[in-house]
Amino acid sequence: MRISILGCGYVGLVTGACLAEIGHSVVCTDNDESKIRTLQSGGLPIYEPHLDEIVARNVAANRLSFTADLGEAVRFGDAVFICVGTPPLPDGDADLSSIDSAARLIAVESKSSKLVIEKSTVPMQTGQKLIRALAIYGRNSDCRFAVASNPEFLREGTSVLDFLHPDRIVIGVADAQSEAQLREIYRPILEQKFPCPVHAGECPDKDAPQLLVTSINSAELIKHACNSFLAVKISYANLIADICERMGADVNEVVRAMGLDPRIGSSFLRPGLGFGGFCLPKDIQAFIRLGEKAGVDVTLLRDAEQINKRRIDQFVAKAANCLWTMKDKRIGVLGLAFKPNTDDVRFAPAIDLINRLLRERAQVSAYDPQAMEKAKEQLPSIRYCTDSYEAAEEAEALMIMTEWESFAQLDWQRIRDLMLRPLVLDGRNLLNAEQMRDLGFEYYGIGIPTADAAHQPKASPSAAIAG
Ligand code: UGA
Repeated sequence: MRISILGCGYVGLVTGACLAEIGHSVVCTDNDESKIRTLQSGGLPIYEPHLDEIVARNVAANRLSFTADLGEAVRFGDAVFICVGTPPLPDGDADLSSIDSAARLIAVESKSSKLVIEKSTVPMQTGQKLIRALAIYGRNSDCRFAVASNPEFLREGTSVLDFLHPDRIVIGVADAQSEAQLREIYRPILEQKFPCPVHAGECPDKDAPQLLVTSINSAELIKHACNSFLAVKISYANLIADICERMGADVNEVVRAMGLDPRIGSSFLRPGLGFGGFCLPKDIQAFIRLGEKAGVDVTLLRDAEQINKRRIDQFVAKAANCLWTMKDKRIGVLGLAFKPNTDDVRFAPAIDLINRLLRERAQVSAYDPQAMEKAKEQLPSIRYCTDSYEAAEEAEALMIMTEWESFAQLDWQRIRDLMLRPLVLDGRNLLNAEQMRDLGFEYYGIGIPTADAAHQPKASPSAAIAG
C-alpha cells in the first residue's frame, strides 16, 4: 500500500521505516526542512538501534523516501499516518496545533480519498475533532476522509523490535473499510511474515500479535490508560524503595519477589530516579487534565506524578548529605539519556539533576555513550568527557543516572583510583552494593540499606559488577 507519514520525529521515522520494511511504499515529510535534508543525505536525526540499517535498505530499494514538499507527501498515500508532536502546554494539556495543521494540509492538498490515521499520542476525542477539521478544511474538495486511531506502544531503544513484534495492535475505527485497510497494512506483522531485521530470520517463538478493533474513543483511551498505568507502577516501586531505605530492607529483593507473582509481573517495577522522557511524564499530566475535565477523581494519578517529581529532590538531598557542600567540587555524571539505548534527553532525570548541581556551583563532568550532542543543546556549559574514566577523574562523587550496560562493565577499581573520593551514588541500582563496598567505595543505591558502620572494605579486583 502507498503510505504517507506526516512528522519525522522518532515515532514517524520508526513507523515509516518499519512499514517500508514489511513491503509498503512510504513517503515521509516534516515541516522541519533541516531534518528532511539530514534524512535525504543518509543521516538520521535520532539514535535508535536498527533504524539506520532499515532506513538505508528501504531507501535503496525505493520503498522509502523523504521530501520537504508537504503536499507531495500527502498526495502520495492511500493512508496518511499523522505522527506530529503533541508537546505539553504550560497547563498540562497537549498542544494539538500540529494535528490541526496536519488536518488542514491533508484536506487542502489531497487529490484522492484517504484513510487518515492518528498515531501521535492525543487526548481522547481528538479523532472526532479531526473528522470535523477535515470536513471543514476540505469542504470544497471531492475527496472523502475516513479517520482511525492506531496508538503506538513503542519504547525508545527497542522501538523497531516493538513495531515488528508487538504484543497487540489496536485500531480504533468507525467503518469496515478503514478496518480492512488497517488489517492490510499490518498483515505481514499479524501473520509474522517478513524477513526480520532484528533477529536475522531467527525470531524467538512468540504468539502472533492480537489485533484489537475498537471505537476511535476507546483506542485513544487505551493509550492513555497504558502509559499512565506504567507511570503508576514505577512510582509504586519508588514508594516501596523509600520505605525500604528508611526501614532497612532491600528494594531489589522486594520487587523481585513481587514481580514473580504473575498478577503483578516484574516489568516496570525498577526503582530509581523515576520516569523521564517525552512520553510518560507528559502523558500522565495530560491524563490528569482529561480526568479533571471529565469530573473524575484523579488523586491516584496525581500522587504518582508527585512521587516522580520528588525523585530528583531526594537524590540531591542524599548527595548533599554525603558531600556537605557542593560548591567547586567536581562531580562526575554517568548517563544523560532518559534511559539506555537512546540519545533522547527530553525530560531526562540527568538534565534536571545537573541543573541543580550547577545551581549549587558544583563542577560537572559528564559522559554518555550516545546522548552528549543532544545534551549540549540544554547544558552547554558543563564538561563533556570522552569516556567514563575521564568523568571520574578527580571527582568527589560519581552519579549514575542512566543504566547503560557499558557502565556495569567498567573497571571500577580503576575508577576508584581516579577519584578524589570514591563515592558512588547509583540512581538506577545498576551496580552491586556489596561488591562496590568491598572494592572500597562509599556506595549508595536507591532503596537499599546503607553500609554498616562496622563494614570493613576488602580490596578484591573486579572488572564488571552489575547490580
Ligand atoms: C513509553 C512506554 O513504555 C511505551 O509503551 C509507549 O509507546 C511510549 O512511552 C510512548 O508513549 O511513545 P518510553 O518513553 O520509550 O516508552 O520509555 P519507557 O521504557 O516507558 O521508560 C520511561 C521512563 O521510565 C524512563 O525514564 C525509564 O528509566 C523509567 N523506568 C522504566 C523506570 O524508572 N523504572 C522501570 O521499571 C521502567
